[in-house]
Amino acid sequence: MTVARQPPPHAKVDTVSRIVRVDLDGRGYDIVLGSGVLDQAGALIADRLPGRPLIPIADASVAPLYLDRLTASLKGAGLRQAAPIMVPSGEGSKSFERLADLLDQILERGAERRTVLLALGGGVVGDLVGFAASIALRGLDFVQIPTTLLAQVDSAVGGKTGINVRQGKNLVGAFHQPRLTLSDLDLPSTLPRRELLAGYAEIVKYGLIDRPDFFAWLETTGQEALDGDRAARLHAVATSCEAKAAIVASDERETGLRALLNLGHTFGHALEAETGYGPTLLHGEAVAIGMVMAFDLSARLGFCPAADAARVRMHLSAVGLPVDARSLGLDQGCVPRLMERMQRDKKVKDGSIGFILADGLGKARLVSGIPPQQVAEILAASLPL
Ligand SMILES: NC(=O)c1ccc[n+]([C@@H]2O[C@H](COP(=O)([O-])OP(=O)(O)OC[C@H]3O[C@@H](n4cnc5c(N)ncnc54)[C@H](O)[C@@H]3O)[C@@H](O)[C@H]2O)c1
Ligand SMILES: [Zn+2]
Repeated sequence: MTVARQPPPHAKVDTVSRIVRVDLDGRGYDIVLGSGVLDQAGALIADRLPGRPLIPIADASVAPLYLDRLTASLKGAGLRQAAPIMVPSGEGSKSFERLADLLDQILERGAERRTVLLALGGGVVGDLVGFAASIALRGLDFVQIPTTLLAQVDSAVGGKTGINVRQGKNLVGAFHQPRLTLSDLDLPSTLPRRELLAGYAEIVKYGLIDRPDFFAWLETTGQEALDGDRAARLHAVATSCEAKAAIVASDERETGLRALLNLGHTFGHALEAETGYGPTLLHGEAVAIGMVMAFDLSARLGFCPAADAARVRMHLSAVGLPVDARSLGLDQGCVPRLMERMQRDKKVKDGSIGFILADGLGKARLVSGIPPQQVAEILAASLPL
């Protein structure tokens, strides 16, 4: 569990800062972004989902910080809400046991087809509540109210929901789009710095996939977005949501283009698995290292200029993200096992590893048939002897 800093003073902002539309046939929805959005949740939900009974579901560490403001806002808008449900914080809550318990509590509160679930928390609560919503009463509507930077730019956009099982992470789930996402940009200010940075790695990822101008903007202004400058934060989060929304709109169920969102993730997942998905290496930190490796590999294979790979490494390092695997307690002896883990990753076809590589900044593409020896050398270069 993480230690939270003090919440920001109650923000009173009456204007909505930005709306990003996720365009999906019949299942499109708005992401409302801005400061003070939490206090407008009632009005925004009443406007888009009028008269619907609500069940707030909150991460137990987030609830003391923000749940009262949410319930007060719902009350203020005259909405009917059941007693909130608490979900213990941490990845362990993405389990069948928690899902069963959550479904029990949802049904005990008299949920009916018109009920809307509200997920207040990071990616864990968003993924769990979204999955519960997809199966409770054969499908309920839900609203995402992401409280981490990672959830605001990634997990609350795109409709992937799910839980972890013994065989691996996120292997059981459903595509189930929220009806609305409410992103209050002030909420991540209570996150520990490491968690904030982990979310930032996914922001950088969107620049590297297909938005080179955005990456260049991050190089000069990303630090301000991290430090909480509101205009910079809004631009960073809104552009990330637009980038992900555009990819999801063109390939909702990941049959092609959506795979680009896995830039840095093949290396990253192997490192996460090797370190036990624990506090040694947060997901976003693994992605930062993985993106550096993907660009180094791209440069080594002659796809992209070495100078581009250097810029990726330099920017991630400048904001305080890890860019190699040296501090993880692993060494070069781990390379064969890391290779094995990558072979098991979803992107393996006929024994050769498929990678998201890049022809330059903002020019990512899926490449298959990468010689394993080249991959092993990139890993070894990032680890101590
Ligand atoms: N569905 C998707 O497309 C998708 C995409 C990326 C990641 N994910 C999933 O998201 C999860 C990770 O999400 P996460 O990084 O948000 O982790 P998380 O939900 O575990 O939150 C991180 C920690 O921060 C705490 N917290 C949350 N908001 C806070 C706040 N405002 N102030 C203080 N503390 C706060 C939480 O209690 C938790 O301890 C993983 O399970 C991952 O698989 C899903
Ligand atoms: Zn990720």
